Amino acid sequence: MLGRMLLVIACMVTLNGCEKIAVLSTPAKQPHASHTPLANLAEKNFWKTLHQGDYNKLPETTKLLTAAYLENPNDPQLAAHLGFVHIWKITERAREKNIPPTITDEITLATHYFKEAVELDPQDARYQGFLGDSMLVSGKISHDERQEVRGYFQLKRAIALWPEFNYFTGGYVMSDLDSHSDRFKEGLEWQWKTLDLCTGTTINRNDPDYRPYLALETTKGRKRACWNSWIAPHNFEGFFLNMGDMLTKQGNWQTAIKIYNNAKLSKTYSTWPYRNMLERRIQNVKKNVGYFQQKNAHSADKAILFNSGNGCAACHQN
Ligand code: HEC
Repeated sequence: MLGRMLLVIACMVTLNGCEKIAVLSTPAKQPHASHTPLANLAEKNFWKTLHQGDYNKLPETTKLLTAAYLENPNDPQLAAHLGFVHIWKITERAREKNIPPTITDEITLATHYFKEAVELDPQDARYQGFLGDSMLVSGKISHDERQEVRGYFQLKRAIALWPEFNYFTGGYVMSDLDSHSDRFKEGLEWQWKTLDLCTGTTINRNDPDYRPYLALETTKGRKRACWNSWIAPHNFEGFFLNMGDMLTKQGNWQTAIKIYNNAKLSKTYSTWPYRNMLERRIQNVKKNVGYFQQKNAHSADKAILFNSGNGCAACHQN
């Protein structure tokens, strides 16, 4: 009753005030998990595609998830997984034969779905981090500096919620920037911070040997983001691959070799589909300084992980 009266008064004053009150007095979208056969099928298919690193199956997987989402647009996980398939599509675009300009629509869709997921489940720090990444990239593509700034602060919020995961997530998108820029340097600093948090020490930046910390491995709590898991079976290897690439791009190839070598400490290194890629990087590390600094790389070996066409599969493919 009072809300209705305020609305009448506000509408007499300004249209803007009227809108604000009308929105605030309307219930927000509520989360509601889906367990229908279609939702179960879409989810099962999603994990299979991700764990097989099967980029070519993305159209089919996206179709199923979208159908499940339309059946119940209140499921935070379906919304988030739609965000993930769209961001995967654009991140690994180097796999496309011809990259169409419409590939950029993928980041618009990713931003939209991650925003929905965050609204429905604000506690999931992973959705928060990927929303920040999507906003940053879409701002960059559309030359909207304010959107980039919003994305950056969204990332800072996500880092505060789960630093072991989101220092990586945030710094990873920044690996694409000019290696002399402040943002690139900050992105690399965030990788070091991940290692400090994961080891509970200040890691020696001249000799970042990870062997003393292997006993800390866990699949529980926040620190699980430091190791391999069912969700990200080669997270450990992929993390060190990206960090080695960022150091190489900065010209610090001596430390890059030591960081790359840490990937080999994983118990499942020998089954990692990208181990040869890592070993070629160690061999070509000096030449790669120049290659990684170029804007348009022409092969996976000459591009940083983020632009290599394996930017998601490196950690998620079994
Ligand atoms: C350095 C390794 C790494 C890279 C690269 C990476 N991820 Fe992840 N990803 C992780 C980790 C670690 C988690 C958190 C797992 C957990 O919650 O225990 C995660 C979580 C996820 C999830 C789980 C969401 C859920 O509902 O449980 C999805 C989906 C995902 N990532 C997709 C992607 C996509 C798509 C890309 C590429 C744009 C990507 N990841 C890049 C390591 C990585």
